Amino acid sequence: MQFKNTKAFAEELDKNDPLRSYRDRFLFPKHKGNDVIYFTGNSLGLQPKNAQEYVNEIMTDWSQMAVEGHFYADKPWWDYHERLAEPLSKIVGAKPSEITVMNTLTINLHLLMVSFYRPTAKRYKIICEEKAFPSDQYLLQSQVRFHGYDPKDAIVEIKKREGEHNFRTEDILRTIKETGDACALVFIGGVNYYTGQVFDMETITKAGHEIGAFVGWDLAHAAGNIELKLHDWDADFAAWCSYKYMNSGPGNASGCYIHERFHNSKEIPRFEGWWGTNKEDRFLMKPEFEPMPNADAWQVSNAPVLALAPYLASLQLFEEVGVEPLFAKRDLIVQYLEFILKDIDAQVAGSFEIITPSDPKQRGTQLSVFLHGSGKSLFTYLMDNGVVTDWREPNVIRLAPAPFYCSFVDMYNFGQLLKKGIEATS
Ligand SMILES: Cc1ncc(COP(=O)(O)O)c(C=O)c1O
Repeated sequence: MQFKNTKAFAEELDKNDPLRSYRDRFLFPKHKGNDVIYFTGNSLGLQPKNAQEYVNEIMTDWSQMAVEGHFYADKPWWDYHERLAEPLSKIVGAKPSEITVMNTLTINLHLLMVSFYRPTAKRYKIICEEKAFPSDQYLLQSQVRFHGYDPKDAIVEIKKREGEHNFRTEDILRTIKETGDACALVFIGGVNYYTGQVFDMETITKAGHEIGAFVGWDLAHAAGNIELKLHDWDADFAAWCSYKYMNSGPGNASGCYIHERFHNSKEIPRFEGWWGTNKEDRFLMKPEFEPMPNADAWQVSNAPVLALAPYLASLQLFEEVGVEPLFAKRDLIVQYLEFILKDIDAQVAGSFEIITPSDPKQRGTQLSVFLHGSGKSLFTYLMDNGVVTDWREPNVIRLAPAPFYCSFVDMYNFGQLLKKGIEATS
C-alpha cells in the first residue's frame, strides 16, 4: 500500500479498519478534553470498559454470599482461574491444559526455575540475552547463587555485535552450541523490552534441546502482541504478565505455560500448595499432594479472584476479535507509524533513528526510537501535548500503538506533534 502522511489518508485507514469499533471499548485518559495518543500499551494496557463489570460481579457476590461465593457464585471462585486457560491457550499457541494463571510474573519464573533449573556440577549454566529486563537478570543471578554458583561463570550472555542494535540468531545459536552440555537452561525474553525485537523462538528452542538444555521464555512483551506457538515450538515453559498487551490492570496476574510432557512427570519437582492438588479431593484436606493432571499442578495458593476478574474481561475481547485480525491491524498500524516516522525524520534531517528491526517478522507492536538531538526535552514536549510514551535511558522513546485501541489518525497526529516538538526543542 502506498501510504500518505495526511489526515485524509489516516481517516481512510480508520474507516476501513475492521477493528475500529474496539477503540470505544476502552477508557482513555484525557488531554485537554481529548483522548491521549496512547503508546504505552507495552507497559500498561488501557482499561477495557467491561473490566469494572467483572470486578463488580465479584464484589456483589462477596457482599451477598460471602464464603458461599466460592461454590455458588455465577462464576464460582474456587475454579475461577480455569476460565482463563482456554482463551489464553489461543493467544500463546498451547493446549488449555498447558496453561495456568497465578501470582505475578517474576514470582512465577522463580517457581518455574524450581522445576526447570536444577543444575549439576557439569550442567549448570544459563544462557540469556545481554541487558535482559532487570527483573530477569536479578532472577537468574539469585537462582544461580542460590544453587551455589557464581553468576559471572554460570550466566552466559548472548551479545549484540559492536554498533548493532539487535541480536543475530546466528550468534544466539553459536553461543548455545559453544556452551554445549554445560548449559542447563536457555532463558530469553521472547520480545526484547528495549528494542521490540522478536526472537526466533522455534529455532532457538530446537537448538537448546539439541544440547540437552531446557528452554523457557519470558513473554511479558510477547503475549497478546505477537503470534506464539509454544506447544508446536516445543518450548518447555514460559510465563508472561497480563497488564501490557493483555490489558488486565496494573500489577496483575501472570500466565504460565508448561509443556504437557511435564505434567505427570515424577522427574520434575515443584513447590506445591493446596491449589495444585486434584480439585475433586482438594477439600478433603488430605495430607498427600495429588497433583492436578495439568499445568494447574503448579498453582500454590487459592486464586486472587478480584485480580483475575479484569483479566477475564479483557480475554473476552480477545475471544471476540481473535488474534489474527488483531495482528493484521498491528502490522498495518506499525507500518504506517514507521512510514510517518521516516517522513518526519526526512523533514527534520536525521533527528532520530528506529532501532527496532524493519523486518515485520522480527517485530511486533513496538517501535523504539533513538533520539539523536533533543532527547528528554522532546519526550517531555510530547507528554505535555497528550502523547503518552515512555523514556528509556540513554535516549530512547518506545512507541507501541496497540491495535485494539489505537487509530491511524493517532499516528498522523503524533507525527505532526513530533515534528513540532523537534523544532521546538532542538
Ligand atoms: C520482560 C519483563 N520481564 C519481567 C517483568 C517483571 O514483571 P513483574 O513485575 O510482573 O514480575 C517485566 C515488567 O515489565 C518485563 O517487562
